[in-house]
Amino acid sequence: MATRKLLLLPGDGIGPEAMAEVEKLVAVMNDVTGSGFVTETALVGGAAYDAEGAPVSDATMDLALAADAVLFGAVGGPKWDGVAYEKRPEAGLLRLRKDMQLFANLRPAICYPALADASSLKREIIEGLDLLIVRELTGGVYFGEPKEIIDLGNGQKRAIDTQVYDTYEIERIARAAFELARTRRGKVTSMEKRNVMKSGLYWNEVVTRIHRDEYADLTLEHMLADSGGMQLVRAPKQFDVIVTDNLFGDMLSDIAAMLTGSLGMLPSASLGAADEVTGRRKALYEPVHGSAPDIAGKGIANPLAMIASFAMALRYSFAMIAEADALDASIAEVLESGGRTADIMAEGCRRIGTSEMGDAVAERFRARFSS
Ligand code: NAD
Ligand code: IPM
Ligand code: MN
Repeated sequence: MATRKLLLLPGDGIGPEAMAEVEKLVAVMNDVTGSGFVTETALVGGAAYDAEGAPVSDATMDLALAADAVLFGAVGGPKWDGVAYEKRPEAGLLRLRKDMQLFANLRPAICYPALADASSLKREIIEGLDLLIVRELTGGVYFGEPKEIIDLGNGQKRAIDTQVYDTYEIERIARAAFELARTRRGKVTSMEKRNVMKSGLYWNEVVTRIHRDEYADLTLEHMLADSGGMQLVRAPKQFDVIVTDNLFGDMLSDIAAMLTGSLGMLPSASLGAADEVTGRRKALYEPVHGSAPDIAGKGIANPLAMIASFAMALRYSFAMIAEADALDASIAEVLESGGRTADIMAEGCRRIGTSEMGDAVAERFRARFSS
């Protein structure tokens, strides 16, 4: 039996609560499909800062680089507000992304039929929604230098972040988006602000060239990112794949999350380049939501974004397509059956907690493989 190494990084706040539900699923999966998952758990974020003095230790980085896939919960919270910038919990996540070279962040937003009324938008606007945001994850203003606050000496300070994109960074994220569009409905919308930013102008130029030279059979459209945000709320079903930079992708994916009803529903995959010899890629899977300090410790967080992130791991790291489909279908079934955490609660539904939601999905998954 093959061994599949998973590193679990639960993190802070609701991260460990959601991760516990994935651990249940891993156990069921090993049991019914003999998938041979072996898990190891390490600290990240504020928890790692408290215990190890850094939001991700070198030892944990080594584990992450050696794992077949990393599952990440969430980091951060008010407890660490006063921590030095370099050691804040979020810096742990950024180091993982950068050192593992996870340049492509896939954030799918799907409207489950049972949740069509949980969105703040009208049912007809989001019913049947299935879009994919491909966010560049290791460049742009998140990492560009200089990045500092300098004292001007006259009672003024200057805060600087720098948006930087090199040709190869735009080329590889554009190719990732086009490859994914080819497996979907064949349309890519590239979002930037070429009307204001040099990096937007160049992003547009490179994406246009990659399309013309390598993917002319697919459809490419360009949209200014502010207008793209408006279109996401006005008519989200016009989109198939959206490709955009690190910061715009962060913001647009939170908007997309709410189209589906709750931040607690949106999974993501952060992928590196495929190894030329083995074809394998480094990968980290994480929900789009954060540590949700306002509901942490109450047992009411929605674990579905975390569970669906595990389904993405099955799909993209382990090519376990049948299992991934079964897990996604199990989530849909539980929602159909009326089980709802507080964030997606609706009239006539049954309110359940984090752990019951995980149990319900695990039960459905087991039933699919036992029948
Ligand atoms: P958040 O995503 O943690 O929470 C925003 C709102 O959504 C809150 O009201 C929260 O209760 C709700 N929510 C989020 N996930 C939910 C879930 N699974 N079930 C039910 N409700 C859910 O964003 P925030 O409050 O802006 O940030 C809190 C902390 O998380 C900050 O420190 C931030 O930096 C961090 N953060 C971490 C990540 C990550 O680790 N990947 C992502 C975003 C924010
Ligand atoms: C996300 C988060 C992170 C980001 C933070 C926690 C560093 O908001 O994954 O969406 O800004 O990328
Ligand atoms: Mn975000």
